[in-house]
Amino acid sequence: MNLNTNSQIKNNHNKTENFFLDVKKGLESDPKRLSSKYFYDEIGDHLFQKIMAMPEYYLTQCELDIFQNKTSDIADLIAFDDQPFDLIELGAGDAMKSTHLLKYMVKKGLDFTYMPIDISGNILSILDQKLNESLPELKVVCLEGEYFEMLNKAASLSSRRKVILFLGGNIGNMELDEAHSFCSGLKQHLASGDRVLVGFDLKKNPHTILNAYNDKTGITASFNLNLLTRINRELDADFDLKQFQHYQTYDPVSGACRSYLVSLIDQVVTIDHAVISFKENELIDMEVSQKFSETDIKELAEKAGFEIKGEIRDSKKWFIDSVWKVK
Ligand code: AVI
Repeated sequence: MNLNTNSQIKNNHNKTENFFLDVKKGLESDPKRLSSKYFYDEIGDHLFQKIMAMPEYYLTQCELDIFQNKTSDIADLIAFDDQPFDLIELGAGDAMKSTHLLKYMVKKGLDFTYMPIDISGNILSILDQKLNESLPELKVVCLEGEYFEMLNKAASLSSRRKVILFLGGNIGNMELDEAHSFCSGLKQHLASGDRVLVGFDLKKNPHTILNAYNDKTGITASFNLNLLTRINRELDADFDLKQFQHYQTYDPVSGACRSYLVSLIDQVVTIDHAVISFKENELIDMEVSQKFSETDIKELAEKAGFEIKGEIRDSKKWFIDSVWKVK
């Protein structure tokens, strides 16, 4: 066994241990909760692709509209001087939206390096190959790992100005206090003059929002329930999926769209050596998808030490890509 394989096994072991500890802690708290960051195993990735293709789930189309039709506005805000820069995308995935921007900026002859950050090395190598074929002139440096660790790595690789992309409304999957500390953390990893582009799903007609997460086809329900399947498989648990039901809420005042799983009976679940009891109708808090007003966005930016330089909306005005400058 070589050193590489050894450290990979240790790494996987640590990941499973952390997963177990998170799940146990979440299910032992009141109310019970699980973190939606664990939704994305192979099946979860596939279900999320299906969600993005649902007519009710407007978020992807709205941000794609911005990246396809307002590309020059984005480029003007992030490539505002003639200096070379590093364009770093947090959680790049397949870079479906950002590829429009990359193509535009390469065509314009702008001097930049694209640095996608993702936790999945597999996704990054697929993206690297895809970009190599479609945009051979583009300089790409893939960074596999956690966001802030990889931002440190990016800073050690080059001293050029940084532009961060955080798309998809992913910031909405943090509780508001977490979003505030995330933005402050981001600011600490950047230098004066650096810029950030964050995608926010806006508060709008509450029916439109609730429908996006409460689809009749049950794909979002499967997306939530799949985390129980993952826990069964990876942590040796015995959740009976038939005894849990997806329930979605949207509070138009706070902007929090929340998904829960409801226990349909009194039941006991074992996860490895941990025993968790559920009362009938007890909830597991699964995910928040926070919606924002323009005032919420301003507050988030300013509290973290950023100044808003521009806001780009889709044609329906349902989504904003907000561009911030480090003050
Ligand atoms: C990834 N994230 C922005 C999605 C959202 O809209 O909160 C995840 C999702 N959950 C249910 N549907 C989509």
